[in-house]
Amino acid sequence: MNDNLHQLRCFGCGARISGAEAQPDFRCVRCGDLFEVEYPGWGERGGHDRPNPGALKWLWRERRCSSEALDRSGVWRFRELLPILENFDNAVTLFEGNTPLYQLKRAAKALGIEQLFAKHQGLNPTGSFKDTGMTAAMSVAKERGFEWVACASTGNTSAAMAAYAARAGLKCLVLIPDGKIAWGKLSQAMDYGAVTCQLKADFDGCLRLLTQIVKEAPIYLLNSVNPYRLEGQKTPAFEIAEAFDWAVPDHLIVPGGNLGNSSALGKGFRELRELGLVTRMPKISVVQAAGANPLVRSFKEHQASALEPVEAHTRATAIRIGNPASWRKAVRVIQESGGWCLDVTEAEIAIAKAELGAEGLGCEPASAVTLAGLKKLRAEGKIASSETVVLVLTGHTLKDADYTIDFHRGTLLKEEEAAGLETKIAGLQRNAVAVEATPAAVLAAMKGRAG
Ligand code: F0G
Repeated sequence: MNDNLHQLRCFGCGARISGAEAQPDFRCVRCGDLFEVEYPGWGERGGHDRPNPGALKWLWRERRCSSEALDRSGVWRFRELLPILENFDNAVTLFEGNTPLYQLKRAAKALGIEQLFAKHQGLNPTGSFKDTGMTAAMSVAKERGFEWVACASTGNTSAAMAAYAARAGLKCLVLIPDGKIAWGKLSQAMDYGAVTCQLKADFDGCLRLLTQIVKEAPIYLLNSVNPYRLEGQKTPAFEIAEAFDWAVPDHLIVPGGNLGNSSALGKGFRELRELGLVTRMPKISVVQAAGANPLVRSFKEHQASALEPVEAHTRATAIRIGNPASWRKAVRVIQESGGWCLDVTEAEIAIAKAELGAEGLGCEPASAVTLAGLKKLRAEGKIASSETVVLVLTGHTLKDADYTIDFHRGTLLKEEEAAGLETKIAGLQRNAVAVEATPAAVLAAMKGRAG
């Protein structure tokens, strides 16, 4: 780890420590809060390590044509802004990042917005945005000589961790809530060789238990409380800014679970602004499921100064989290960027997911909260028709195929959840039909297709 270039700063009390001094649970010994990576050399204009904006933009673009392993990673392509490794040869990469930014023409038209895009982080090597964070933190684990890594997960972190651990030749432990994770994700952890424990606990309980375990055994914790995860997860902000030729979009809409991702993307845009690569941050809004909305409640009930954990329930199992670890960091991002925190219902999530699917962009239910949230923000007049909006789609549609099939078969939502939305839902459902094996029967089935 390159302790010369970076240090860790406590988000709560401001204490500064070197990377090597971090506790196994990544909590501050003084106040218990989480750390952020900072780079003292960038300090002020003319600081000795302060990168030159023009040179960086040129270099990063050049690397897109390079065949060097590090340059082919959409995370390490930006390595000047994450100098966390002693030796970049230690980077463990699956060529993550460099994900597509798609224009959403139909949704934009329906919402009366001119410029609407989806940054599809589900198109990473293991099918979720977690890969960008995992390459960074796994590389640190390897450089520090750990044999074991571990995470608690609603599924995607464990899939990413297991894959990167396998690449690095490390052993890994996964704690997941029994019965509440999508099969696609569980299958990945098995395939990549993780020791997978399904616990009679929710995600919050799994993370609590793991925090105890890492204090007793030399295991490197790879949840997003690990600040190096967020260093990797900030890089999609660089890709987005680059895609808009360094004029950032007006709005970025992100799903909220444990709140590491919104914190990381905010840090990415903040650093670009501080270093003079862009002139402003997008407004960053966080969308939660109504049954797992502790941050929304925190804003409503405590002006975001306190957070009361909730018992979380949502079919978007990726964000079924009641006690998000990075909530303070996410609050700072929402407040400093001028974004909002809101929640959406199960039916709104299912409809938004089907609409994204109908536009050729499948995603996980947890990702679809972004489009559902955008509809609300637009209806409330918080987003103007002339503004540019980017939705962050966090996971691949095949992670949770059961959800999609249940929606199209009409078995996903309860009657009371779908109340008032039946026509809308029926118009989106595309159930498979049993048809006789004759041309006439197949042609008749095509005629039956509504629109
Ligand atoms: N979307 C997907 C597909 C996720 O897997 C997660 C989190 C989120 C959104 C929320 O991101 O936690 O950074 O606010 N999944 C974690 C996991 C918790 O264990 O895979 P967050």
